[in-house]
Amino acid sequence: MVFGVGDPEAKLFLIGEGPGYDEDRTGEPFVGRSGQLLDRLVRQEIGIERSQYYIANVVKCRPPGNRDPKPAEIESCRPYLEAQLDAVSPKVVVTLGNFAARLLLDTRESIGRLRGRLYPYRGGVLVPTYHPAAALHSGGAMVVAAMRADLVRAKEALSREKEVI
Ligand code: URA
Repeated sequence: MVFGVGDPEAKLFLIGEGPGYDEDRTGEPFVGRSGQLLDRLVRQEIGIERSQYYIANVVKCRPPGNRDPKPAEIESCRPYLEAQLDAVSPKVVVTLGNFAARLLLDTRESIGRLRGRLYPYRGGVLVPTYHPAAALHSGGAMVVAAMRADLVRAKEALSREKEVI
């Protein structure tokens, strides 16, 4: 099981899809190639290290063969994610990819349509962005540029603390 790591009092909470091979082996989210890219983008655009935010996934166990998580798996893991969000109580939640955005915003809309703006969420804001794995595929430069812009949105929201409490 890959629960989540980071500062339990973080103002920023990042949410991915589910553990991959490397995460399954280490028990930590986003330690593989996607995670390394994500860490770099967060460091460059927001100026913080992994120990300063909290990071977790929609599903806590690796779907066999890296398939998409099934609706029943997402539902069974949902109470854990909700409890993590309750405990950390972040000001800004950044969702990575379709699964986290659709779950938390309760929509079927795609990430390409959802990203680019902020959504009110749990007394703070939610910033949907692409999954870093999408940046590792062809056309990745566009995805990276969009992710950078979204992370700047998250940084601005973090600095507007009064508005997002
Ligand atoms: N992709 C995810 O969505 N989460 C991880 O933890 C690793 C890769």
